[in-house]
Amino acid sequence: MNAAVSESFQQDALEIVGTLASLRERVVAWRVAGERIAFVPTMGNLHAGHFALVTRAKARADRVVASIFVNPTQFGPNEDFARYPRTPAADEAGLQAAGCDLLFRPDVDVMYPFGLERVVRVAVPGLSSVLCGAHRPGHFDGVATVVLRLLNMVRPDLAVFGRKDLQQLQLIRYLVADLALPVEIDDAPTSREADGLAMSSRNQFLTAAQRPMAARIHQCLGEMLKAASDGTVAQAIEAAAMVGLRDAGFDPDYAALRFEDRLDESLWGPLPVDQQPRLVALIAARLGTTRLIDNLAWANR
Ligand code: PAF
Repeated sequence: MNAAVSESFQQDALEIVGTLASLRERVVAWRVAGERIAFVPTMGNLHAGHFALVTRAKARADRVVASIFVNPTQFGPNEDFARYPRTPAADEAGLQAAGCDLLFRPDVDVMYPFGLERVVRVAVPGLSSVLCGAHRPGHFDGVATVVLRLLNMVRPDLAVFGRKDLQQLQLIRYLVADLALPVEIDDAPTSREADGLAMSSRNQFLTAAQRPMAARIHQCLGEMLKAASDGTVAQAIEAAAMVGLRDAGFDPDYAALRFEDRLDESLWGPLPVDQQPRLVALIAARLGTTRLIDNLAWANR
């Protein structure tokens, strides 16, 4: 191959580090060189949605650091920590292709050096205990705890989170604002399959029969927002969505209509038309043993 051509397609090799010292060494060198650093935290088993976060990060910074850590403190005792899919080789190849510069893949003792029994935990009031938090006690404390650690370790200028877990995104925004962390939080649109199903590592647990059924969640979110635009009150919309999901074979945790900036407050009574652009519909529902979450904002309906 012509040298100039091969050079123009050359992507620097993805570096992989597992210790705090080697992470800091790389990041400090970039910072000294005046480079802007973006961070994409993940739990691995990466799919196109994750790679879109890396692409977005790359467009906004000189360097992109991704992390892969299946965080035990955000899983409840009966949740899927043990079966959470782990695909390190495919993740590395995908990150390399997406242009990620550095992968931080710590062991549990790097993240929690004093042991899981002695973790300093962070709790975000309000947001942690509603919607998914009401059904997964302790989950968001675990998320806040690990994200704060990761941000302290990487010290990025910018961190990118997907909108699919809107509650997580808003919780992290709150954490960053309340603790005055020097990082910008950027959100990326939800990546969807052709039938509207939000991409998720957990989709692979759906059976062949369940997979087409799963797209019903996205349709239901659209119907909830349509009903809101027709003037139906939130409680009626939420109740109808729960019935619809059950009829379609789901076991829903919630179907909720909220203001995007106040996820912890239920909406009561008729909604003023000028407030409709703040609306977001959110669903968490099980199909068999697989728990799916999704949301749709007014602007995307
Ligand atoms: O969204 C996730 O993958 C995780 O909750 C996160 C933000 C990486 C923290 O473990």
